This record gives sequence, structure tokens and C-alpha cells, in this order.
Amino acid sequence: MTKRYLILTGILLTLSAGILFGCSAQPTAWTDAEVEILQSLWIGSLPGLPTDPSNQYGDNPQAAALGEKLFFDTRFSSNGEVACATCHDPEKNFQDGLPRAQGVGTTNRRAMPIAGTAYSPWMFWDGRKDSQWAQALGPLESAVEHGGTRTQYVKLIGANYKDEYEAVFGALPDFSDASRFPEPAAPVSDEAAAANWEAMTAEDREAVTRVYVNMGKAIAAYERTIMPGESRFDQYVESVLANDGATADTILSDDEIAGLKLFIGAANCTRCHNGALFTDNDFHNTGVPVIENLPEDTGRALGAQQALADEFNCLSVYSDAAPEDCSELKFMLTEGEALERAYKPPSLRDVAQRAPYMHAGQFTTLQGVLSHYNEAPAAPMGHTELELLHLSEVQLNQIIAFLETLSSIK
Ligand code: HEC
Ligand code: HEC
Repeated sequence: MTKRYLILTGILLTLSAGILFGCSAQPTAWTDAEVEILQSLWIGSLPGLPTDPSNQYGDNPQAAALGEKLFFDTRFSSNGEVACATCHDPEKNFQDGLPRAQGVGTTNRRAMPIAGTAYSPWMFWDGRKDSQWAQALGPLESAVEHGGTRTQYVKLIGANYKDEYEAVFGALPDFSDASRFPEPAAPVSDEAAAANWEAMTAEDREAVTRVYVNMGKAIAAYERTIMPGESRFDQYVESVLANDGATADTILSDDEIAGLKLFIGAANCTRCHNGALFTDNDFHNTGVPVIENLPEDTGRALGAQQALADEFNCLSVYSDAAPEDCSELKFMLTEGEALERAYKPPSLRDVAQRAPYMHAGQFTTLQGVLSHYNEAPAAPMGHTELELLHLSEVQLNQIIAFLETLSSIK
């Protein structure tokens, strides 16, 4: 074989390889196992909305229409300025962009997104409420959020929403006798309100609480309609599932795809951020730092106890569920070190629009979040479930690029 012939063959081989592998770009290869994971994260895999047996009005459109009005009505607060939407602004992904939410006062935690929470058995970072309606009754009487009391609220319902209320829930009791129904009155920490509440008859307290509960059930019916939208990631998966790799690769960039590979692979984010909402709705200690000057926060350790003791839980007299429908509450883990500073992973859909991050806004950017995961620091209390990732700066940025593909296409 002459030297010249060898060179020629070499050139030919290189050329044909170029045609096969280089010039005509090959779609990203995914293994069957990976495709299965992609499909599980795809919005098309979201199962039908689970019914909430504790709320018989959950899927009643009239209840939802009333709930929507209540969600935006600032009269339901002690200063007339705070509504649910103050901290859950639809223009801001139902959040407020603040590290700690601001109502009548300042809370110790960051507001959470609402979209898709009807799929979660637990509400709040620590899951101290076991339904959306029970959750809604928390901020209304929290001294730092809406700051009002239930006697004030049921009177407002009578004055402003009587017909809409009665169309769904039946006759509204007459709360006009101020000596029987004083304001403020509620089982809250404010001494005057608590004393007024104690002075009421058990029957009157029950009548007020029933209407208050129905407000929560109407708000929950509205919240059940709030869902994340389709994202570029979902369009990508749709093409992959249709075996149309060429189209898929026009939807996401190389960096975004590399980030997705890391997210479901080497970085193992899907250990906790799985399913079509990117959350397992369970509680995990991820070693998120403590913010100085805030009261001690033990996360799920306290949240589980509060869910058990909650006046409005699934097993309460205000729930429409039969006891056998309350298995989440009955069989939940109530103690142990795994609950210490364990929090619920929020959905990662639309996450890029929702800075700052974590339960008290510990990180201002996604870069901060990803450095935290890469370094996996020891937890301030209990044990972190994270492991060192050893990813490069380039890889961390690829994961961030991927997270940005989870934004709803408006
Ligand atoms: C002052 C701001 C503020 C107001 C007002 C407010 N929230 Fe929130 N919301 C928060 C904060 C902060 C959290 C997380 C609190 C925690 O975990 O302790 C939260 C959590 C939630 C969650 C839990 C989501 C999840 O994934 O677990 C829902 C649902 C919710 N709020 C709905 C409402 C509704 C309904 C109202 C009105 C009745 C309301 N919020 C009023 C700040 C607010
Ligand atoms: C062991 C479970 C677990 C793993 C693994 C995990 N996360 Fe999380 N993630 C959580 C929990 C829990 C929170 C909320 C923690 C808190 O606020 O204290 C969270 C919060 C987040 C947030 C902030 C969301 C918000 O709205 O505040 C982002 C972003 C995030 N995770 C991305 C990732 C990425 C990317 C990976 C992989 C590198 C990952 N997570 C791996 C459990 C986990």
C-alpha cells in the first residue's frame, strides 16, 4: 500500500464519518429508561385532579366563583389592605417576590406558589395543614397576614356575598346581634379576641365557624382551578415521545438538554423533584441555612404535630370526609430525626420567575441554589439528605438553563 493511497483513504473515511455523524446533526440519544423518566415529568402525564373528600364543594363552579372573589378581596383583613392575592399575585406566579411575605406584619417564611397544589396532600413548607380549605383559614386569622377574626369575616360575607354564599351553602345565620357575635372574636393569640370568643355560647361559636369553614371551601374550589401551563420542556418531551428527535432539538438548546440529562442523571434532582409537577410532596432536610434573628424553625417536626392537632383537619367535624378517606393524616410519620428541618419541595414549574428561593428566601438566585446543592453543606439541625455533587460551573449553569425551560408559555 502506498503512502498516497493511505492518505486518500483517510480523507475519504473522515469525509464519510463527517456526513454520517457531523454534518447532519444527530438528535440527542436517550435510553429507554431515560425516556420513561422524561415522560413521567411531562405535563401530559399529570393525572386527573384528585378529589378532596374533605371538601364536598371542591368541584362546584359557583363555589369556585365565590372563592375567586374572596381571594382578591382586601376587606377580609384587619387593615382593609391585605388579600390572599397580596402575597399570591397571579402576575407573579401567585407569589410576591419577597424573601419573607408581608401582610399586616412580616411572616417568618416565604410565600409559596399555588398552581397545582390541589395535588398535594400537605399544605405549607412544613405540611401543617392537610387540605387547601383548611390552609386558607390559617392566613385569615394569622396576626401577621390578614390579621382579622372569624366573626368579622362572617359579617362581611353577610353584607357583601349573601346571595352567592346562600346559593352554594344554604341559609346564612343572622350574625347582626353584636352582643352575641362581638368583633373581634376568634380562638387566636390576641387576648381580647380570644376572651370575646370564650364568652360566646358554644352554639354561636359553631355557627360562626361553619360559615368561616365554607369560606375556606370556596377559596379551595377556586385554587383547584389554578394549574401550571405547558412549557418548552413539555414540547420537547412530546417530540421525543413521538420519535421526532429532529424537531425536539429545535425546541431545546444543547445546554438545556445537557442540563436535563444532569437533572435526571448525575445530579439526581428527580429523587425529590419528580412527577409532572417536579415534587414528591414529601418532606426533606436539604441543609438549607438558618436565617439569624428568626425564631427556631424545625420544619416538618412541628408541622406534623400541628396537622394532627388542627381544628380543621381531615378527621375534624368540619371535614366532609369519612375517617377512611383520611389515610394521609392517619398514617403520616409523626416523629423521628428525618422530620427535623424537613420541608416540602415546591414544584419547579415556573421556578425561574420566582426568586428568591427556599422557605425563608435563603437564596436570591438559582446560581445560589445550585451552589448549595453542589456543596451539600451539613444541616443546621438534623441531617441533610444531600450528597456532594462535584459538578463544574458549566454543568451547574446547564441545570439552570434547563430549569428555565420549565416556564409556562403564556
Ligand atoms: C402575608 C402574606 C400571605 C397572605 C396574605 C396569604 N398567604 Fe398563602 N402563604 C404565605 C406564606 C408565607 C406561605 C408559606 C407559609 C409557611 O409555610 O409557614 C403560604 C402558603 C400558602 C399555600 C401553601 C402552598 C403549598 O404548596 O403548600 C397556599 C395554598 C396558600 N398560601 C394560599 C393562601 C390563601 C388561600 C390565602 C388567603 C386566604 C393566603 N394564602 C394568604 C403568605 C401569604
Ligand atoms: C433530597 C431531596 C431533594 C433533592 C435531591 C433536590 N431537591 Fe430541590 N428542594 C428540595 C426541598 C425540600 C426544597 C425546599 C427546601 C427549603 O425551602 O428549605 C427544594 C427547593 C428547591 C428549589 C427552590 C424552589 C423554590 O421555589 O424555592 C430549587 C430551584 C430546587 N430545589 C432545585 C433542585 C435541583 C436543580 C436539584 C438537583 C441538583 C434538587 N433541587 C435536588 C428537595 C430536594
